[in-house]
Amino acid sequence: MDLSEGIESRRSVRGFKSTPVAEETLRRILQLASCSPSYTNTQPWEVAVVSGERRDALSRILFDLASASVPSSSEIPVPAQWPAELASRASEHNARRFRVLEVERDDASSRNELRLLNYRFFGAPCVLFLFLDSSLSPWSIFDMGLFTQTLALAAHARGLGTCLQASLTHYPDAVRDFLGLPSSKKLMLGISLGYPDPQAKLNSYQSSRTKVDDFVKWYR
Ligand SMILES: Cc1cc2nc3c(=O)[nH]c(=O)nc-3n(C[C@H](O)[C@H](O)[C@H](O)COP(=O)(O)O)c2cc1C
Repeated sequence: MDLSEGIESRRSVRGFKSTPVAEETLRRILQLASCSPSYTNTQPWEVAVVSGERRDALSRILFDLASASVPSSSEIPVPAQWPAELASRASEHNARRFRVLEVERDDASSRNELRLLNYRFFGAPCVLFLFLDSSLSPWSIFDMGLFTQTLALAAHARGLGTCLQASLTHYPDAVRDFLGLPSSKKLMLGISLGYPDPQAKLNSYQSSRTKVDDFVKWYR
């Protein structure tokens, strides 16, 4: 797959087939992701790959917490208020997604069901959790972002889909307890990974982008 074509055709996948992903394929994707640049080549990423029975058990734990509406204790803060322009993009994203799914604005129950699908990993057979040592600075979060995009593209090039999920960082203690990791390993992101289900309605939604001149100032 041509690189530009791969970048343009990648999108978040929110409906997966149960077909398992071969360990060899996962290893190759992770190795490609590790080719990402990082601050003085520190390569700060730490990854837990969870599949099979352990995936199912962890999904149950997270689903129960989210169903009980336990508040998020994500270790990455969100702004108290997004700047207006960004807030309007987020609400447009949500509105368009609900329209595609034919979910009404005031249908709180359907919206909640959609939210909870995050904790079923959208049916993906495999989920990756990305950790960063607590001693590190935002520079390393930057590196983690680069790693994540390379991973998503490497997966896409192999016919696999990904969904990067902040929602999977909402209960970091539960994830660490389950994986036997110390609290010094901060949970940065969860990534559902698997073969996309083309029949899944959620996969029919495609996000939009602003134009280059909306975010670039040219100095000539
Ligand atoms: C850091 C980050 C966190 C995200 N968290 C979630 C999430 O919790 N659930 C979800 O369905 N999508 C999540 N997404 C996916 C975004 O909604 C998606 O990338 C965006 O709408 C653009 O769509 P695209 O990925 O299809 O191009 C997240 C993306 C990023 C980069």
